[in-house]
Amino acid sequence: MSFLTLDGVTRQWKGQGGVQGISLALPRGEFLSILGPSGCGKSTLLRLIAGLEQPQAGRIVIDGRDVTALPASARNLSMVFQSYALFPHLSVAENVIFGLKVRRVGRAEREQRLAEVLTMTGLDGLERRKPSELSGGQRQRVALARAAVAERPLCLMDEPLSNLDARLRHSVRRDIRDLARKLGLTVVYVTHDQGEAMSLSNTVVLMQDGRVEQVGTPSDLYSRPATTFAAQFIGEPPMSLIEGPALGYPDEVTVGIRPENVRLAAAGGGDLDTVVADIEFLGGDTRLELDQSAARGLAVMLPGAAHIGIGETVGVTIPEENRLLFNSVTGKLEKEPQQNPKARNRQIPAPEDGQKAPPSPKTVKEDL
Ligand SMILES: Nc1ncnc2c1ncn2[C@@H]1O[C@H](COP(=O)(O)OP(=O)(O)OP(=O)(O)O)[C@@H](O)[C@H]1O
Ligand SMILES: [Mg+2]
Repeated sequence: MSFLTLDGVTRQWKGQGGVQGISLALPRGEFLSILGPSGCGKSTLLRLIAGLEQPQAGRIVIDGRDVTALPASARNLSMVFQSYALFPHLSVAENVIFGLKVRRVGRAEREQRLAEVLTMTGLDGLERRKPSELSGGQRQRVALARAAVAERPLCLMDEPLSNLDARLRHSVRRDIRDLARKLGLTVVYVTHDQGEAMSLSNTVVLMQDGRVEQVGTPSDLYSRPATTFAAQFIGEPPMSLIEGPALGYPDEVTVGIRPENVRLAAAGGGDLDTVVADIEFLGGDTRLELDQSAARGLAVMLPGAAHIGIGETVGVTIPEENRLLFNSVTGKLEKEPQQNPKARNRQIPAPEDGQKAPPSPKTVKEDL
């Protein structure tokens, strides 16, 4: 049975924006990310689930109970926001157990739960500090500890990492994942960062303009994006789109290809000739940006370093089995890539299975 159900949930503003007709069913213990560009309605949807907004249509059911008309306080959930929302005059410990005091949980139990969550969130030893004496990452951990100590089965998070620098984002992201798993929480997590959504969740809801664009596992969204919008929102660099006729398809076809599946070849030796527009050495990989009239910015990811110059003409091969075919008019996916186990392995690069093997006569520049 689903733990959280949204059925046709709609909340629109007079001008524009909001969400329209959102239906979802989430099993208990799932980690769901709501992903999408700024203004697509992610926070509105989360606030509707929380009870901070009222829907104009639709139903929200949590754990078998219709909560549509209930206030936030009666929905048995916890929340973590981008702004940590801590009381500045209270210590870490007091901030964490504030809600338990309000709920008149006894002192002994409070102390025990506090000790547990402080350890779980790596805040041991900081319990007497004030929020102003903490780093951003520590403050967000206090907010997480406060949500965890409440022991509510549903936790809603709205961009909890966006105020943190890249390194902290990574470590707090891991804390969130561990905490959710340890406590068996069902989490709805809002983010505009596709990497965050992909690495944290079991299920991703991709939104655009107040509607659901696609729902699926991270790997579904990556390998079978339902639309060109999804194809270009997921992945870094995103999927490259090539006009069909350049590869021998009719006008209304757009070909999608993931950057790690594009092969380099000698000029004239691949499917298309391109010019190297930009090279970025990323350490383990090199990212090439290629100019080609049928595809503005064709991206290529190569393992290792690339000995190639900007302005050089190279051929590219777009392997048949990795091509996704989209309808150019509707943007919808019409043909998935073939289920090629080798192509899938490339998402998790293994040292012995890079683009270097097997050698093929066509791809002379393979190990550039
Ligand atoms: N209270 C409100 N009154 C009027 N319009 C609103 C209100 N809240 C949100 N909107 C509009 O609804 C749309 C969606 O807003 P929402 O905050 O849900 O977007 P978001 O996906 O969370 O964006 P971001 O990534 O920037 O946080 C926006 O166009 C916004 O201006
Ligand atoms: Mg938002």
